[in-house]
Amino acid sequence: MTQVIREREAFRAACDEARAAGRKVGLVPTMGALHEGHLSLVREARRRADFVALTIFVNPLQFAAHEDLSKYPRTFEADVEACEKEGVDVIFAPEPGAMYPAGFQTHVEVEQLTLPLEGEFRPTHFRGVTTVVTKLFNLAGPCVAIFGRKDFQQAAVLHRMAEDLDMPVEVVKAPTVREPDGLALSSRNRYLSAEDRARALSISRGLRAAWDAFHAGERDPSRLRELVLAEVEREMDSIDYVRVVHEASLTEDPTDASPLVALVAARISGTRLIDNCVFETDARP
Ligand code: PAJ
Repeated sequence: MTQVIREREAFRAACDEARAAGRKVGLVPTMGALHEGHLSLVREARRRADFVALTIFVNPLQFAAHEDLSKYPRTFEADVEACEKEGVDVIFAPEPGAMYPAGFQTHVEVEQLTLPLEGEFRPTHFRGVTTVVTKLFNLAGPCVAIFGRKDFQQAAVLHRMAEDLDMPVEVVKAPTVREPDGLALSSRNRYLSAEDRARALSISRGLRAAWDAFHAGERDPSRLRELVLAEVEREMDSIDYVRVVHEASLTEDPTDASPLVALVAARISGTRLIDNCVFETDARP
């Protein structure tokens, strides 16, 4: 039976109790509207922990004023049902506002890694993410927390944060779950019409073309980028970025010898989609 908790102190107490009983706490932070991508993180948490806490909180701090906070999809009952099926022990779903009572004024910030890519287009976004995830870590006290590589920069930033601030939690990055035709699962996919969805496939098609070229020996980042861009610009309404960078620094810095990753953010009919692929280590998109 999955317990649903709304209050911060009750969530802390439930995780304390699990730890006191010798159970390893695994945390899966989400904003709800759960899909198979989220559920794959739950399964990973179950493999690595004995008590799985999933959080559902559409975090206002990570949305800019012009973004989709108010129209972000909310499917709470279906989310609870999915968590029951997956054996989630506790869902923490605080009321909006409960996480940031009057007087709140403390934030956590990661520096360089948050500047490129998403940081150029959503300058206050990661500060909201790192702050809320720190709060969730402090409430749950997890041994392990699972994040998706679908949000590649977010997972890198949170890994860095835990490392830099000596947080006693292992940050695990789980692979991107895709539809059979390649589309990366996202809560925002439900905004897409059938026609938009077909056009959005240009993103995974572009990543796949570059993945194929990489595995045929292409190593030139600008050539790999061109292959992604060619597909994406044909179909998407506008592009925030298509980049090929090194995964450690998220820059083109040639002294960074880490694997190449292609990252895309583009819009279709007002819906912003992101996707990425590490050519060397990820499955073919
Ligand atoms: P949300 O977009 O709900 O995503 C929750 C987690 O699910 C993130 O770690 C995300 O990377 C992962 N995820 C989403 N789609 C996925 C897919 N197709 N395959 C694998 N994992 C996927 O990301 C957030 O919420 C928030 O920023 C949060 C971390 C909860 C902080 O508010």
